[in-house]
Amino acid sequence: SVLEMEVEQIHKGNYEHYMQKEIHEQPESLTTTMRGRLIRGGTCKAKTVLLGGLKDHLKTIRRSRRIVFIGCGTSYNAALAARPILEELSGIPVTMEIASDLLDRQGPIYREDTAVFVSQSGETADTLHALEYALQNGALCVGITNTVGSAIARKTHCGVHINAGAEIGVASTKAYTSQIVVMAMLALAIGGDAISNQARREAIIDCLFDLPNKVRDVLKLDQEMKDLAKLLIAEQSLLMFGRGYNYATALEGSLKVKEVALMHSEGILAGEMKHGPLALVDESLPIVVIATRDACFSKQQSVIQQLHARKGRLIVMCSSGDATAVSLGGACRVIEVPRVEDCLQPVVNIVPLQLLAYHLTVLRGYNVDQPRNLAKSVTTE
Ligand code: G6P
Repeated sequence: SVLEMEVEQIHKGNYEHYMQKEIHEQPESLTTTMRGRLIRGGTCKAKTVLLGGLKDHLKTIRRSRRIVFIGCGTSYNAALAARPILEELSGIPVTMEIASDLLDRQGPIYREDTAVFVSQSGETADTLHALEYALQNGALCVGITNTVGSAIARKTHCGVHINAGAEIGVASTKAYTSQIVVMAMLALAIGGDAISNQARREAIIDCLFDLPNKVRDVLKLDQEMKDLAKLLIAEQSLLMFGRGYNYATALEGSLKVKEVALMHSEGILAGEMKHGPLALVDESLPIVVIATRDACFSKQQSVIQQLHARKGRLIVMCSSGDATAVSLGGACRVIEVPRVEDCLQPVVNIVPLQLLAYHLTVLRGYNVDQPRNLAKSVTTE
């Protein structure tokens, strides 16, 4: 009805679509996610993280033999992005499970495990069934959801709400970045107060405080991503290469393109390039390479060279100021993004790819907020 349409327009504010609104409100949603949870400390007090929903369980989590992340879709990708920092700060092995696959295999889950369930809606059937399975097996179950009172929030032993605000667009955007931030805070909380990594923890906390500003900066790439989308509008396929902290960025960026722009896209672990994907490279297939500064940078530079040697059509995402270091004398199109702490770089890096997917969808004339065949919350197996 006309009234419904008007109400919807009010909710979207100045934006044409919910997905667009949700991409652009990430500086605010990230701020809400962190509110009250980061403690900068006084003169003699250390910087710390406070996650109220976990404090009674931190000791048990620290004693667990393994942490298992379980989720579907974007929520799985967010957990994958947070895995390295959780392993680094906790020293506990972290394994990844796509909920349906854990159930298909009836994979082993033990009493000594901490199982972390990541779900925006808190209602995804596969994730919920995996939770029931983990509860039966006696694991400590932690929920990370965006929906207070959801099934996953209720049935887990403890958890953290991501507080990103309602997400309406079927393709998850702001929930993704807030989930990563929550899991980085989880890593800080589990890592505790070990002297050995205190400087590292404080650098991450300082970076978290400033992260909304960095996301505001990267959102200025909107027009540049629209221009890029215009170039890619008629493509059949788009590959995205990432590794380390940004393997997840490649998977999530390609999931966005697939879901909303209805274009084939594949996220590829750059370390696997020679084991198959290299055969696809020619002068027409566009390839996004994520090569922002971190310990993997020189390896990504060599990936860029090898893809270029096979005449790949490259779009390289790099840290501000690195354009000359990665563009091979102008042979590659470059997307420069602000540099943040390596473990939080995925939060910044996904934003241009969300914008790219959004503009591709609009230009190709598809439904942004309700892609065909997909649902916001999949409550059947
Ligand atoms: C559906 C949605 C995705 C979402 C996934 C997991 O496939 O379309 O956007 O990432 O479910 O949803 P959850 O609510 O569990 O995060």
